This record gives sequence, structure tokens and C-alpha cells, in this order.
Amino acid sequence: MENTGKPREGFSSGLAVFFASLGSAVGLGNIWKFPYLTGSNGGGAFLFVYFICILFVGIPVLLCEWYIGRRTRHNAIGAFESLKPGSLWKGVGVMGVLSAYLVMFFYTCVAGWVYFYCFKALTGAFASISAESVEGLFGEVIGVGTAGQSFFSKAVLSPIFWQFIVLCVVGFGISMGVRGGIERITKTLMPLLFVLIVICDIRALTLPGAGEGIRFLFHIDFSRITPSVALSALGLAFFKLSLAMGIMITYGSYFTEDVHLFKTAGKIAFSDTLVSMLAGLAIFPTVFSFGMEPSAGPGLLFMTIPLVFSKMPFGTVLLAAFFLLTSFAATTALLSLMEVPVAFWSEEFKMSRKKATFMNCLFIGLVGITATLSVDSSSLLGGIKLFGDGFFDFYDHLSSNIIMPLGGLLIAIFVGYFSKKEDVAYELSNHGTLENGFYVRFFSFVIRYVSPALLVIILLNTIGIISF
Ligand code: TRP
Repeated sequence: MENTGKPREGFSSGLAVFFASLGSAVGLGNIWKFPYLTGSNGGGAFLFVYFICILFVGIPVLLCEWYIGRRTRHNAIGAFESLKPGSLWKGVGVMGVLSAYLVMFFYTCVAGWVYFYCFKALTGAFASISAESVEGLFGEVIGVGTAGQSFFSKAVLSPIFWQFIVLCVVGFGISMGVRGGIERITKTLMPLLFVLIVICDIRALTLPGAGEGIRFLFHIDFSRITPSVALSALGLAFFKLSLAMGIMITYGSYFTEDVHLFKTAGKIAFSDTLVSMLAGLAIFPTVFSFGMEPSAGPGLLFMTIPLVFSKMPFGTVLLAAFFLLTSFAATTALLSLMEVPVAFWSEEFKMSRKKATFMNCLFIGLVGITATLSVDSSSLLGGIKLFGDGFFDFYDHLSSNIIMPLGGLLIAIFVGYFSKKEDVAYELSNHGTLENGFYVRFFSFVIRYVSPALLVIILLNTIGIISF
């Protein structure tokens, strides 16, 4: 793609880079998805594989994306085009756009639940909550038992209503061009969310029976590491660090020349994982203390957090604050996701940004309805299965477990085998100004051999071609 000649606004400082990337990384993935996948996949065993995936696949691929972005100063598709003109590599960018859509179909739905909980908490609906009633409330939110009802009944329309509110907020944010806004929001709200999660942790860890939750989270039972556990952990690592969608390529294209890419990647991965762990430490002790099931699925967050706060002074106010901050985290993550198709349509097809935003929100809303109405098998569309999954899980699995790992594999191969070693070393050492030869050599080794091998093993293992 040609350089449009528009001056590219860079991030103002290293700190801004850090917060913008963190704003994209931290989201429902930490607070909602990480705990529920850990719960459904056997606790410590899953956590162990997840750490390996973050270290040997997530961080290296993140560095690859930043390398590609900063070197070319282009968005994902343009970046591949400028490095290898006329080649099929830009297909990686197109795959990214595809998975951004798939993620948004269900992400807007879950963000809608968060908005709804925030509203409920503010209106005092959680004042006298118990382990039994919290499940019923969540069931209401996702439309349990609506199979066979009219599409226009209140139970069916209510979650769709919240999903559309989310899309309106995100669409408004994008069309106002909130790049600077994102930085500012993230900078102030992330620390607040962090503090609230720590408060939750303290309460959860002092509940009777909390120890069992900690054991669940940290005890590694190696016999539980199955192909599907490994694949979920790998998919989560991509999802968490916002990889394989071109977002980090685009962010990299805005980085200034003095950003230390290794250090920044390490800090992002560490902070992001820390937030996930803290969320897990709030949720699992509560699960066991109240005799719930860790494998409750996507509702896990929504059934446990209200209970933790119910055991605290000022619980309702803090609960409202928790869901409010979570809704901000979800919204900033969504802003970065929505940027992918909006940039694609406006830059590749010369559509105005406003029009691209509107059309994309409408499209995502319409298809997203299928995710919202299929969370539970007794929901309106819950009976329809695609390859054994309802719509909600299908969008999630197709993006996180198939397209993202494949995209990540291609990115690793591109940087490991189709880019000049000297170019990569030059960029990663900030044009030779950093003394980081060891890191660069280690990275080259990992990206050529370790990450692709892990990706291939896990992918082949899933299709059943090889087995552990
Ligand atoms: N990382 C975000 C989360 O954990 C989700 C997300 C935002 C994302 N942008 C992304 C995932 C881009 C993949 C690609 O909630």
C-alpha cells in the first residue's frame, strides 16, 4: 500500500506506548475469560501451559508485530505489502481482520452483560444476594430458557439491548477519533481497577474455605494437560496480548525510535498476567467457599464477584465500581479491536471513517445477536450447533483456537525466515543504539525454532494428526 502522505501521529512518550498497548491487552480476557477457562480446564495444569505459551509464543510474536509495525510505519496489511510487495503475506493482515470480527461478535455480548451488571448494581439489585439467586440473575441476563419464545419477548431483547448500547459507545468513541482519549482513560482507570481487584482478593482470600481455591489454581496435575487444554491456553495467550490481528503491528507503527521493545513487551506481558492472576485469586476462593463449580463456564465471573462484595462493608457501592471499571476496560479493548476493520475499510476501500464505523457496528451488532442468543443451550438459538458449538463458542473457538494461532505462526515464520536477520537486529536494537545483542540472538532462536514448534505441535495435536 502506498504511503498516504498523512503525517502519522506518534505516541507522545514511552509511557504512552505502554499504556496504549496495555489498554488493548487488559480487558475481559483477564477478568472474564482467563478465570473461566482456568476453571473449565483444570486449574493449575492450565495455568502452567498458559505461562509457557505467554513466554515462548506470546511475547515473541508480540515483538515480531512491533518490529513489523515500527519498521514499516504502516497498518497491518500495508506493512506486509511494503516489506514484500505483491506477495500473499498480506493475507495475514486479512486473517486478522476476520478474527477481529469473530472476536467482536461475542466480546460485545459479554461487555453488554458487564454494562447490565453495572446498571443493576447501581440500582441496588445485588443488595441481598445469595449463592442461589446470583445464578438465577445471570440466567436472566443471558436468556436461559428462552428457547421457543418470541424474538420480541423482553427476556430475548434485553441482552441484545445492552449489546447495542456497547456498540453505540464504541462506535461513538471510534468516530470521534479518540486515540489520545484512549491513552488518558487507560492511564487513570487501570490503576483504579487494579486496586479494586486487590480489595476483592483480600476479601476472597479470607473467606472460609478459601484455601481450596488457591490449591485449585496452583496445584499442577500433569495428567490434566490434554490437547484441548493446551489449545485453549495457547488461544488465550493470543487473545490476551491482542495478537495476530494487526493491532500490535499498528501500535508498533506509532512507536518512537527510542522505545525499548524487549522491556516494553516484558512489562506488558507481566502486568497483563498479573491482572489475570489477581482476578483468579478473587474468583476461585469464592467459588470453593460458596460451594460452586469452578467449571461453570462463561458465567463464572458474574456469579462469583457479586458474592465477594456481598461480604464486605460498602459492598454494593464497591460492586458497582468494580463493574463500572470493568466496563471501561472492556470498552478500551473493544476500541482497539474495532479499529482493525475500520482502518481496513477506510484505508483499503477509501470509505470515510464515520461511514466505516457505522457500517461495521451495524454488521457486528446484527451477527453478534446470534452469539448473544446462544450462550446457554436453552436460549433462543441455543439448539443450533456449528461443528458441535453454539454460535457464541463457535466464534470464540474459531478465532482464538484456529485463526489466531495460524496467524501467529505465519508472523513468526515471516520474521524468522523471510526477514533479513540484520534488519531485525537493527530494529530491535533501536538502530544499534542498545547493547542488547544477547536478547536479539535469543529472540531469533525462539522465533525460528521454539515458537513455531510449539504452535505446530499444539495445532497438529488438536486435529489429531499427532498425539502427546
Ligand atoms: N486483549 C483483550 C482482552 O484480553 C481483547 C482484545 C482487544 C484483543 N484487542 C484485541 C484480542 C485484539 C485479540 C486481538 O480482553
